[in-house]
Amino acid sequence: MIIAVDGPAASGKGTIAKALAKHYHLPHLDTGLLYRAVAATVMRLELDPTQEADSVAACDFDELTLADPVLRDDEVGQVASIVSAHPLVRAALMQRQKRFAHQDGGAVLDGRDIGTVIAPDATAKLFVRATPTIRAQRRFAELKSRGKSTSYDQVLADIRSRDERDSGRSTAPLVPAADAVLLDTSFLSIEAAVAKAVALVEARRTA
Ligand code: DC
Repeated sequence: MIIAVDGPAASGKGTIAKALAKHYHLPHLDTGLLYRAVAATVMRLELDPTQEADSVAACDFDELTLADPVLRDDEVGQVASIVSAHPLVRAALMQRQKRFAHQDGGAVLDGRDIGTVIAPDATAKLFVRATPTIRAQRRFAELKSRGKSTSYDQVLADIRSRDERDSGRSTAPLVPAADAVLLDTSFLSIEAAVAKAVALVEARRTA
């Protein structure tokens, strides 16, 4: 069973994907981390993320980078959104994600293009969303709890610009797959959102 969980930044897709992986005893891959690792490598090497060749050079990142807490920073998320718009960067990371999705026993992956590109054959596809202001509130609270100094307005502006870039790019834009089910988490607690996600997957699994 392959479960694809797509959606914009801070929609709750990561939390839901982790909970589904636990529920079904499946391995989980947060694909955003791969693009974040490329971004962090570009930044460390002082390369230019707007240049495709610079970004491709950073796709050969050190595996240890994947565990670096710096990947969670908003600045890295913004640069990840820039590098991920390059078709050659997406191509460089594709096989790794496809292999993970199609391993024996199945997997849960979350990202932007899992249901459309990485695993169009997924058993269940969820597209998780929430309003930009609610996502900004969640991200702001998370950054504050990690001791990061930023303003709510800045976080909201970052979310809007990332949405625009991720949805507007020509290669693998953030769009729900035709057969994805929408899960709006705006007014749901984490527990309620997870329960709904499990119910939606069950409905697909037994369909
Ligand atoms: O999910 P995230 O916020 O960690 O993702 C960071 C950026 O990586 C996001 O703005 C766009 C890019 N990304 C992508 O293009 N495709 C994916 N499957 C996952 C992330």
